Amino acid sequence: MQNMDRIINILSRLNPRWVATFEKYLRRIPSVNQEIQKETAALTSDLETSLKPYREDFSSYACLPEIGRSRDEILAEMQALKNREEARWREGFVSGAVYHGDDSHIEFLNKAYAIHSQANPLHSDVWPSISKYEAEIVAMAAHMLGSEAVDGGESVCGTVTSGGTESILLAMKVYRDWGRERKGITHPEMVLPVTAHAAFDKAAQYFHIKPVRIPVNAAFKADVAAARRVITRNTVVVIGSAPSFPHGAVDPIAELSELARQRGIGFHTDACLGGFILPWAEKLGYPVPLFDFRVPGVTSISADTHKYGYAAKGTSVVLYRSHELRHFQYYTAADWPGGLYFSPTFAGSRPGALSAACWAAMVSLGEQGYKEAARKILETAAFIRQEIQAIPDLYVLGEPLFVIAFASHTLDIYQVMEHMTQRGWSLNGLHKPSCVHLCVTLRHAQPGVAERFVADLKAAVEETRQHPDEKTGMAPVYGMASSLPLRSVVSDILKKYIEVLYDV
Ligand SMILES: Cc1ncc(COP(=O)(O)O)c(C=O)c1O
Repeated sequence: MQNMDRIINILSRLNPRWVATFEKYLRRIPSVNQEIQKETAALTSDLETSLKPYREDFSSYACLPEIGRSRDEILAEMQALKNREEARWREGFVSGAVYHGDDSHIEFLNKAYAIHSQANPLHSDVWPSISKYEAEIVAMAAHMLGSEAVDGGESVCGTVTSGGTESILLAMKVYRDWGRERKGITHPEMVLPVTAHAAFDKAAQYFHIKPVRIPVNAAFKADVAAARRVITRNTVVVIGSAPSFPHGAVDPIAELSELARQRGIGFHTDACLGGFILPWAEKLGYPVPLFDFRVPGVTSISADTHKYGYAAKGTSVVLYRSHELRHFQYYTAADWPGGLYFSPTFAGSRPGALSAACWAAMVSLGEQGYKEAARKILETAAFIRQEIQAIPDLYVLGEPLFVIAFASHTLDIYQVMEHMTQRGWSLNGLHKPSCVHLCVTLRHAQPGVAERFVADLKAAVEETRQHPDEKTGMAPVYGMASSLPLRSVVSDILKKYIEVLYDV
């Protein structure tokens, strides 16, 4: 550890850009690489035990059982696995993840799923019911997000996707192809705040779009002047979040999108997280800046039905201001021997049942249901935010409505998070700057949950204060991951993590 510490120490004093440029050469130095291997092996050795907790108590299969097992036995085993995991999210110990989770709601979604479990919208002739559901999901989401302001709602359109990431990937592919076809841009660039979701970087990697990142201000909102400076003739799209995943801050969408509009390029609002709660927050009188199609420069929006839309996991909506843009999303094959083929999104065959359950969630909640849910969540979040602010060693980042990020000037915030983990909590550890967030859902609006969070947080802070040098559990890993100048090492650790997930 000492050698590694020394290396980190030296590297952290160097210009980070320089380190990034020469990273691959540094890693070719045998002694540096050896030390890195040793350290990462130590850091990842515990992964197996934490990610594979069922190895001892449950049968596992590296190949098909020769003879199939009894259905009852299988279902009993699945129920046992579920039972071990359920209490944590059900009782509100988890940040985000399950946004509704009431028994009767889950039962209703499961029934809707079961009715359409065989449906595949790729065969739209066999299951026109799914096209109906999806068209209506898109229309309802568009209406909620200000489509009436555009040609009376005529031209806003979109598709149902499998989640926020797919919605974002599709929108970015649209702008890349639109830029090439309409503007002859062959080296496309996207301008995005550093706080924009990782899915945009994924899109940049997948579709060869250059990501040009702009900083955020003290309120964790995108710096508009910086955006103005970096837009070039190759920019196809500018991005803003409503709100951002890390700090729950709504970017200045009106100003950012105006820059895009003036240059005749796209602007995407990532409302994956906020799309189904901010409209109701606005109606309830909370300070919500405009972020949807009422803003003239906004040309597309992603909004996740599987978050605050309270659908089952696996659906989201991507919306476009015009049919012209949506066309760039479609895939068609006119000459394939397999016949005439088309698909609106990345997948071929898709689970129609998820769209059916999503539609069922939306029409069962209705405006009133969403507004009431938003009221409960926002009131709970306001209480939690106020209580965190009252803890002397902590401060809240920005002025969030329902994703509350907090940090400390005096304590190791990752150690505070570790003490929360020991109390059963599953919070999100973030970096740049080091902080932790709680994404408030209906799970936290249950009686007593917010109070329990605050009491546990106070105790976790006190414990960290009592032992300021203690680094336990994941605290040193987060600490290293946020400060290590060799970012490829952090990437390697993440890849190792994924590998462990797929070990039997
Ligand atoms: C702002 C934002 N955008 C995009 C995403 C990606 O969504 P998903 O995990 O459904 O792919 C998230 C997920 O939390 C998010 O918060």
